[in-house]
Amino acid sequence: MQKVQLKELLEEMTIDEKIDQLLQLSADFYSEKAEERTGPMADLAIEQANIDQAGTILGVSGAQEAIRIQKEYMAKHRLHIPAILMADIIHGFRTIFPIPLAIGSSWDESLVKQMAEISAQEAAVSGLHVTFSPMVDLVRDPRWGRVMESTGEDSYLNARLARAMVKGYQGNDLKNDFTRVASCVKHFAAYGAPIAGRDYNTVNMSERQLRGKYLTGYQEAINAGAKLVMTSFNTVDGMPATGNKWLINKLLRKEFGFSGVVISDFGSVKELVAHGVAENEKEAAQLALSAGVDIEMMTSCYAHALKELISEEKITEANLNEAVWRVLVLKNDLGLFEHPYRGADVAQEKMLVLSEEHRQKARETAQKTIVLLKNQEKVLPLSKEETIAILGPGTTSQDILGSWSWQGQKKEAISLHTGAKQYTNNLLYANEIYDYFEPTQKAFDEAIELAKKADKVVLALGETDWMSGEAASRSDIRLPQSQRILFDEIRKVANKVVVTLYNGRPLDLSVLDSADAIVEAWFPGTEGGQALADILWGAVNPSGRLSMSFPASVGQVPIYYDVDSTGRPYEVSPQEKYVSKYLDESVYAKYPFGFGLSYSSVEYNGLKLDKQTLEVGEVLQVTVTLNNLSEKATRETVQLYIRDVVGEVVRPIKELKAFHQVEIAAGKSKEVQFEIDESMLRYIHRDQTSRSDEGLFECLVGPNSRDLLQKEFYLNK
Ligand code: BGC
Repeated sequence: MQKVQLKELLEEMTIDEKIDQLLQLSADFYSEKAEERTGPMADLAIEQANIDQAGTILGVSGAQEAIRIQKEYMAKHRLHIPAILMADIIHGFRTIFPIPLAIGSSWDESLVKQMAEISAQEAAVSGLHVTFSPMVDLVRDPRWGRVMESTGEDSYLNARLARAMVKGYQGNDLKNDFTRVASCVKHFAAYGAPIAGRDYNTVNMSERQLRGKYLTGYQEAINAGAKLVMTSFNTVDGMPATGNKWLINKLLRKEFGFSGVVISDFGSVKELVAHGVAENEKEAAQLALSAGVDIEMMTSCYAHALKELISEEKITEANLNEAVWRVLVLKNDLGLFEHPYRGADVAQEKMLVLSEEHRQKARETAQKTIVLLKNQEKVLPLSKEETIAILGPGTTSQDILGSWSWQGQKKEAISLHTGAKQYTNNLLYANEIYDYFEPTQKAFDEAIELAKKADKVVLALGETDWMSGEAASRSDIRLPQSQRILFDEIRKVANKVVVTLYNGRPLDLSVLDSADAIVEAWFPGTEGGQALADILWGAVNPSGRLSMSFPASVGQVPIYYDVDSTGRPYEVSPQEKYVSKYLDESVYAKYPFGFGLSYSSVEYNGLKLDKQTLEVGEVLQVTVTLNNLSEKATRETVQLYIRDVVGEVVRPIKELKAFHQVEIAAGKSKEVQFEIDESMLRYIHRDQTSRSDEGLFECLVGPNSRDLLQKEFYLNK
C-alpha cells in the first residue's frame, strides 16, 4: 500500500476501530470453541467487537490456524485490515537451538544470524509475522532466572549478537521476503538488573550506567532495523518503563530516532496501578499512551479508557492517531495488506519445520556453544576403547530445550545417551531412570555400582527447564542437593569423573571441585545430547567461551568482569585487611567471562602495537601471535580489552572492545590483528555525552577476560 492510501485508511477509521488497533489479545480469544473464549473475555471485560478489531494477536500456532484466524478476522473487520500475528520465537521455533546464554557463548555472529534465519523461516511458514526477540537485557546476577534469555554480561558482545539476530530475523526486504519475520527487541530498559536477582523487582541505576552499559544492546538492535521495541516490567529511575515518558518518547524516539512500534510487556500497562503510579486503569492508559506505548499487550486499559480520555482532553486524538499510524505502517511493512497470510503455507510447513537440515544446523550450533570448563590430565576426549558409564539425571533426559521453547517438543530432542551410542558400544548405563531431585534408592545404588565398573564416569547433572526463565529466580544457585550427594558418592568410587551440565544460568559449582572434567552444555536444544556426545568423544574440539561469569559462590553475585576501579583494589595488596575483598570467599569468579578450554593448547605471545601514541582519525594496529602447541586443529576466540587508566569518572578495570575467531591448524601459529581507533575509547561522561579523554590506556589481549597480555598506549587529542 502507498503511504497516501494508508493515510486515507486511517482517516476512514472510527475512534473505536483505532483504539482496538492498539489492543493485543492472545490466540484463545480466536478459538473455534466458544468456551475457550468466554473466560478470557470476562477477565478482560471486553466485548466481541474488541476481539473482532484487535490489531494484533499473540501466540497463534500453525499455518492452518493462522490462515483460519486471519480469514475470519478480516471478514469481520469493517475495513478488512489484517491482524499481525506475534509470538516468542526465542531460540528456534520447532527446531530448538541452544538458549541465548549459550548462543552468547559461541561469540559467533554468523552462527547466531543463521539461527535467527532458520527460526524466522519456521515461524513465518507457520503463519507468524513478528517475534519477540532478541532479548538484549544485560545480565550480571545469575539468581535472575531470565539470564538464560540473554546473551550475557557484556554490552559489546550483546550488541554484536543483537545486530546479527535482528538481521537474521528480518533480512533485507521484509515486505516481499515471506521467509522472514519482524523483530521486537526487549525489554526496554534495564530489565536485566532487578535488585537481588528477583524477577520483576525494582531496578535502580545511574543514568550514566544505563547509557554506558545497559542501553547499548537495544540501541544496536534498533540501528540494525528492529521494527518493534517491547517495554519492561521494571522501573527506570522510579518510573515503570511502560509509563516512562523520558525513556520512551525522549530517549527511544527522539534521541535514538526509533520510529517503529512500541509494545508493552504482558499486562504491564495495567501494572502501573500495582506499581502505584496510576490510581486506576484509566490513569494507567493515560500514562502509557502519553509515554509512547502503542500496543497494550493482554490488558484492556486502552480499550476501556482511551475514548473517555480523548473526550476529557487528557490525551488528544492526534496522540491516538500517531500510535495507530505506527501499527498500520508495520502491517504495511510486513506486506500484510497485499498478502494477509504472508508466508503461512501448510504444505511448506510440513517440509521445513524440523527438517533434517535445520536439525543439523541446531547440532552445529550446540557444538559451538558448549563450554569446556575443566579438563584435568586430559581426561577428555573419551576414546572408543574405554568403558564409560553415563550416569545421573541428564543421561536419558530430553528436558534439554529450556523454558522458552514454546513449539519445541521434548520427545524430539536427542538425549546424551542416544548421542553417545553413535560413538561407542562400550557404554554402561542404568536401567532405572535417575530423577533430578528425588532419585529412588535403587537408582542411586545402581549408579554407584556402575561407577565402580567403568574406566570413566560421565555424570550428567543439571537443572530442569522450569528452574530458569521467567519468574524462576533462585537464591541458591547450586545443583539440587540429591545431585550433590550423588557426585560426592560417585567421586569416592570412580576412577575418573567427567561432569556434564544442562542448565540455564551460571551455577555455584564448588561442589564439583574434585571433578576431573566439567562440560557446560546449557540447555542445548533439539540436538543437544548429540552435540554433547560430539564434544565428549572428541569429534568436535570445544570452542565455547563463557558469556557470563560463574561465581565461586552465591555470596559474590552480582559478579562480572568489567567492574569499576576501587580506591582499595585487592590485587595491589591481597594480604591487607582494608582492601576490597571478602573474609570468607575469593574476589574472583570461579570461571570468568570469556573463559573456555579446548582439547588443544594455545599459547599467546608477542603482543605488539604499531605505535605508542594514537591520534584522532588514525588507527593503532595491534598484533598478537597464537601458537597451537597441540596435535588438534582448534578455534580460538581472541579477545581484546581496553583499560582507560584515568578518566573524568571512575572507569572499569577492563572492557571488551573487539574479538576475532580464528582457526589454527595443529602445530601451527597464526598472527591475529586488531585495530583500535578513538571511537573505541569513548564513554559516557558526567554530562551524559559520549566522548574520549586524552591520556593513557592499556591494551589487553588474550583467550579470556583474566589471562591477558598487556601493552600501553597514549591517546592524543
Ligand atoms: C515476557 C515477554 C514475552 C511476553 C509475551 C512476558 O511475560 O516478559 O518476554 O515476550 O510475555 O509472551
